[in-house]
Amino acid sequence: MPFGITPQRRLFEDTPILPTNACRVTSSKPAVVGAHSSPNTKKFAAITTLVAESKCHKFPLDKKREAQNVQPYTPQYLHDQAKRTAPTRYFFYQQTIWHAAPICLDIGCGAGSVTPEMTQKIPQSTAIGFDIDLELLTQGAHDSQDNQALHFLLADATSLPFRAGIIDFAFDHFTLLWIPNRMQALKEITETLRPHGILACIEPDYAGRIELFNKTTILSPKPPFPIVTALIRLGADPFTGGHLPRELRQLPFDQIQYGILSWKYDAEAMKTEIQSEAQLLQEKGIEWNLPAVIYTPIFWIYARKFHKK
Ligand SMILES: C[S@@+](CC[C@H](N)C(=O)[O-])C[C@H]1O[C@@H](n2cnc3c(N)ncnc32)[C@H](O)[C@@H]1O
Repeated sequence: MPFGITPQRRLFEDTPILPTNACRVTSSKPAVVGAHSSPNTKKFAAITTLVAESKCHKFPLDKKREAQNVQPYTPQYLHDQAKRTAPTRYFFYQQTIWHAAPICLDIGCGAGSVTPEMTQKIPQSTAIGFDIDLELLTQGAHDSQDNQALHFLLADATSLPFRAGIIDFAFDHFTLLWIPNRMQALKEITETLRPHGILACIEPDYAGRIELFNKTTILSPKPPFPIVTALIRLGADPFTGGHLPRELRQLPFDQIQYGILSWKYDAEAMKTEIQSEAQLLQEKGIEWNLPAVIYTPIFWIYARKFHKK
């Protein structure tokens, strides 16, 4: 069967009851649901061993929850954005002491702008990208169909299907700002981490946004910038980056390091991002004169889960 979104969607919708040890896995080949035999049985078996039976009743994903996913970005935007944060991710990979065959989680992986890289940069790793957006996931699965160490899963960060204490490295790249119940998501993610497992995040904080209308002068508008209003209207928290270190201190992490990415304005590299912001504001009926320079602080956070003796 040729790869396509429609058959997968139909297959999911036609499957009212999932076996207790099953979850939905998107794949570049025909979708695998339940314990049916298929070309992807091996991949599917690998992932079901990670899934907690007690948590499987939470599938299938609430359709209303899926419909609430309003983040407006295209795969191209997400790929361009990921290019700019690559040095910080490589820093995370180098910073981490890897166990044999580590399991990595890409939280809200979208179309997989980062997930395949984990299997390339982290020795002998398995990477699981999960998201509530089936279309983005399907695109990601299609783009990396030959990578057997890579899995894409339809799941919600606030109600994760994984067994506790099995994940070595959980990575969040511009996802947490879109989750209204962020603390619940952080608790779920922390529970899946093994002792000394790592949670690494890259999140913006628009509180420190600067828009310059020529290279030296801030003219108008005054903060809060229109993009902040648009993000809040969409249900996002534009100040997530600055809040995360404090939020992680309430969870069982014994080491939390954080900082702001070094950043050089490059209009060409940021073209898709700037255009996308302009379009978003236009759609929301918010006026915005395109600035000459835009700076949004991006926080990096690297936290290690507590190891009870
Ligand atoms: C800005 S995109 C970032 C995607 C990806 N991390 C990347 O950098 O390319 C935010 C992603 O978060 C996902 N998302 C939002 N709420 C989620 C939730 N509760 N659980 C899992 N993913 C979620 C969206 O579907 C979207 O793909």
